[in-house]
Amino acid sequence: MTRDFIPFSKPSISEEAINAVAEVLRSGWITTGPNCARFEEDICRYTGAKNAIALSSATAGMHIALKALNIGPGDEVITPSMTWVSTVNLIELAGATPVFCDVNKDTLMVEAKDIEPLITEKTKLIIPVHYAGAPVDLDKIRRLAKKHKIKIIEDAAHAIGTEYKGEAIGRHGTAIFSFHPIKNITTCEGGVIVTDDDELATQLKQLKFHGLGVDAFDRETQGRAPQAEVLTPGYKYNMTDVSAVIGIHQLAKLDKFNSKRRNLSKHYNKLLKDIPGIIPLEHPKYDHKHATHLYIVRVDDNITGVERNTFMEELKKVGVGTGLHFKAVHLHKYYRENSTTQRGDLPKTEWNSDRICSLPLFPDMTLDDIDYIVDKIRQII
Ligand SMILES: Cc1ncc(COP(=O)(O)O)c(C=O)c1O
Repeated sequence: MTRDFIPFSKPSISEEAINAVAEVLRSGWITTGPNCARFEEDICRYTGAKNAIALSSATAGMHIALKALNIGPGDEVITPSMTWVSTVNLIELAGATPVFCDVNKDTLMVEAKDIEPLITEKTKLIIPVHYAGAPVDLDKIRRLAKKHKIKIIEDAAHAIGTEYKGEAIGRHGTAIFSFHPIKNITTCEGGVIVTDDDELATQLKQLKFHGLGVDAFDRETQGRAPQAEVLTPGYKYNMTDVSAVIGIHQLAKLDKFNSKRRNLSKHYNKLLKDIPGIIPLEHPKYDHKHATHLYIVRVDDNITGVERNTFMEELKKVGVGTGLHFKAVHLHKYYRENSTTQRGDLPKTEWNSDRICSLPLFPDMTLDDIDYIVDKIRQII
């Protein structure tokens, strides 16, 4: 019997969510409206955040955050190169300079001790990434930022449901979640920026909707004043109610999804333990709750005799999809040609960039799927 292809990721969308989408489509109000307002409230309740702003993507959130903080030419922004390209592209497009920080070789987290030497008088912002569903060591990075009067925007694209020392990511500070279809919950495309800074929240709400001095949807008037004026030039990054209603249903299931992910991830750990050269990421030692967004292994070809790209191709041939999170940004063509950071400068990032591979992980897969995948891994190496 042939097996169905096991994709690297697959969203779990319930029939209720599908029916709710149909209801929104029939309602006559399909763009930003009551469902966005409700989704923002639900995100605040779930994370403990003071303000939540629903957006068309996490990238949109980073764009307006950089704009609100006035990041521009002459400014330096410290972020890992081991991240999704969107953050670095936006820093570059703002005319500022991305300053790449190396990461912990086994957790892929940026650490305060590696950030501190990169701080100059031009440093305006640190963008740490909560990687694969675990949190960065926030206390240390916050202390450092406070000491040098630098802002932090947490890239929490992987971290909905993640906790750091007993508190949800997003509870304090400013963080951006992504709801792209591979994330732990999805709105098809979408993101949310949460912040405990009311002034920043007001700015972000304006920037996300043309710079008008009103929200895209006002809860009290159940609409928005057509007379609203532009207070600052802004963008159009609001989430639609069609997306938001999916988000409401997804968020209600998040804990269940994440607990399934944790079980699957434990099964991978158990089976991969005996396979030399297939090295799963480590979980940070400090107190945290992992959202197990990605199950990443490093394929050490010195031991396996098989390089990562071949490993991924061979898995595909036997019906297993994989992902790559991420090729280090400074190794992409544009940054190879335009960045002062070159291969050799970030040894731990580069070692991982050449070897990482994300194995299938999504709530609807089974332990039996993992038995099959690991069996195939054994055969390949
Ligand atoms: C670490 C990280 N940051 C930012 C983003 C951007 O998210 P979005 O696709 O919602 O714009 C992603 C998306 O994959 C990501 O993985």
